[in-house]
Amino acid sequence: MKFNIKKVYSLEGMPSLIVLADKPENLPDDLFTVEEIEYLTHQHTVQKKKQFEFNRLNRWIFVQLFNPEEHTPYKRAESLRKAGCALALSLNEQKCESVTIIDCLTASLATFYLMEGLALGNYQFLKYQTNAVEKQHTLVEVNILSAFLKQELIDQLNYVVEAVWMARDLVNEPGSTLTATTLAESLRLMVHSTEIKIEIFNQKKIEALKMGGLLAVNRGSDEPATFTVLEYNPSNAINKQPLILVGKGVVFDTGGYNLKPSGSMSTMKSDMAGAAVAGATLYAIAKAHLPIHVLALIPATDNRINSKALVPGDIVTISDGTTVEIKNTDAEGRLILADALVYAKKFNPMLVVDLATLTGSATAAIGNIAAVAMHNGCENHFETLTDCGFKVHERLVSFPMWDDYAEMLKSDIADIKQLGGKHAGAITAAKFLEHFTDYPWIHIDIAGPSFSEKQDSYRGLGGSAFGVRLLFNFAKELSEED
Ligand code: BES
Ligand code: ZN
Ligand code: ZN
Repeated sequence: MKFNIKKVYSLEGMPSLIVLADKPENLPDDLFTVEEIEYLTHQHTVQKKKQFEFNRLNRWIFVQLFNPEEHTPYKRAESLRKAGCALALSLNEQKCESVTIIDCLTASLATFYLMEGLALGNYQFLKYQTNAVEKQHTLVEVNILSAFLKQELIDQLNYVVEAVWMARDLVNEPGSTLTATTLAESLRLMVHSTEIKIEIFNQKKIEALKMGGLLAVNRGSDEPATFTVLEYNPSNAINKQPLILVGKGVVFDTGGYNLKPSGSMSTMKSDMAGAAVAGATLYAIAKAHLPIHVLALIPATDNRINSKALVPGDIVTISDGTTVEIKNTDAEGRLILADALVYAKKFNPMLVVDLATLTGSATAAIGNIAAVAMHNGCENHFETLTDCGFKVHERLVSFPMWDDYAEMLKSDIADIKQLGGKHAGAITAAKFLEHFTDYPWIHIDIAGPSFSEKQDSYRGLGGSAFGVRLLFNFAKELSEED
């Protein structure tokens, strides 16, 4: 479904409206009677109600009240996104196809956040529903009447929303239909209308590159592995060394011979969320023509079982020659990421950011409301990224990278052990990955926030695409820095 947000400069006809104001008395007096304003004032002050709807027979008028002084700026933005999502629900219930937003607040980004929540909350995954036509949301267009919001910002919002929707579609696609090959081909389709160059390495090329981590995980599969390289390098790029995004692309994670218990396996089609987010972020960056050189590296396979599959005790050789003692076939993500992190070295990157649904331990530590992050050699970039996290409400919690944790990865029979001990699993996983880096690096474990089994406001049901807005905004800040 197409969805479009656009700027308008006058009110034509009698469109359905959302009117955003700080208090009832500041609402346009040609839209409401004195009695209605009195009613709104009473409901607002006594019942603390902020959202209202009026049926005008030929159109709907929704009122959103918002206190510009309440909470911190980040909390205010988030409550507006949630309000936008609730409005999307009401608009669809009333079968509205289009809505116009009137901003009675001057010089404020409030409408931007409202539209963001509205657009992201309008997402649906109906591909496999026979009654999709009846269920399909009617809302396809949002018009914004605002002197303050610049066209460029609206364009960027459209691209980011499109990217989030595409990433969610990929995550929501079942594990058996989205193979490593179809994931790579979907990425090709995603970027074909952009300046992004794409190269998909097949099994033969992966073997030639000696990507032993990716090949080891893929041994248990009938489907070949893929390794996709996406590159956006505009002529006006501000960076000489590229920014690289690496995304874990395990299209389904059964756990392998260390088979997952059924409850934990049921959502494992989402184990390629990092890949979807990395690809979709690059798409949004390219569509918005941000002047920054960025690549995405996406190793992809499923993690299944056959007679050739990896077993504990095996020794695997990563593409840089490092030998790894396998302790648990369910810790497959770090093996395929190791090869991608090694491959990133050849680009002499300014910074590599990997996104991976890597450990249950990350979720156990902080839940699904944020991602666990660790970094190395990039204090300033990490601070910028953390700030972006607060701005877009895709928050990061920084965990330590002390050397003590690396001690836990010492192996008696190989260069490194695949796992640490019983505790601190998110950190020892990061320490394992660190072994394959020699550049500034940020690791984001998105196991918690990337998928929700119940509707979670504008983040939706199923794949959330956590990370697209974070990394788009980060790339935007970097491209404005110099
Ligand atoms: N894909 C999982 C991690 C995961 C768990 C993602 C829950 C999303 C939700 C990963 O491959 C995995 O199985 N990790 C193991 C590692 C362990 C064997 C050291 C885990 O976290 O249990
Ligand atoms: Zn696993
Ligand atoms: Zn996994």
